[in-house]
Amino acid sequence: MLKEIESRRSIRKYLTRDVMDKQILNLIESARLAPSGDNTQPWNFIVVRSAAIKNALIAADHHQKWMKEAPVLLVCTADITCRRKDGPFHLDENSSEPELKQIIRDAAIAIENLLLEAEHDGLAACWTGWFDQKDVRPILGVPENQYVCGIIPIGYAAEAHPAPRPRRPLETMVYYDSWGNSIK
Ligand SMILES: Cc1cc2nc3c(=O)[nH]c(=O)nc-3n(C[C@H](O)[C@H](O)[C@H](O)COP(=O)(O)O)c2cc1C
Repeated sequence: MLKEIESRRSIRKYLTRDVMDKQILNLIESARLAPSGDNTQPWNFIVVRSAAIKNALIAADHHQKWMKEAPVLLVCTADITCRRKDGPFHLDENSSEPELKQIIRDAAIAIENLLLEAEHDGLAACWTGWFDQKDVRPILGVPENQYVCGIIPIGYAAEAHPAPRPRRPLETMVYYDSWGNSIK
């Protein structure tokens, strides 16, 4: 598993080559199996192929034009009713609900599964999140109980795997027995 974890990259150049629904569903299968608090499984996915809808999403996602080349934009939402049944819900970037943190946390695990499965399958992807809920929600008709966690272009890479982005060294994040104690 470390192999895919090490080789995965955010890819921002795609071939025009299409990706089959079966391949997308296989990625979503890897997300479906993710762990979640209380097994609440808050995630939902919208597979976007329509050029008009893709363009609108890209405009909402800070006009990241490179996303256009990807044949599919996969949108992941998280459902707060897994945690709290009664609305009204006002889920945006400034919401302070504890349940929102929980569903975003769980959906993030599912998305990471999906990114790793894409790497395993020879597909290219990049999690994007440079948007506001209010801009993306109406494009897709996302109901108020859902929070949009990411828009993920998926395709085949038109570039070699870029060099790894820097990561913090292990020793800067590991403590033993108590915070700040780096010595075992
Ligand atoms: C929550 C989240 C949001 C991101 N949003 C964007 C984005 O809007 N545009 C983009 O180009 N990359 C985006 N990225 C990709 C990161 O820039 C990338 O993961 C990071 O630089 C490390 O590079 P790597 O994925 O190739 O290892 C996002 C990643 C995450 C996890």
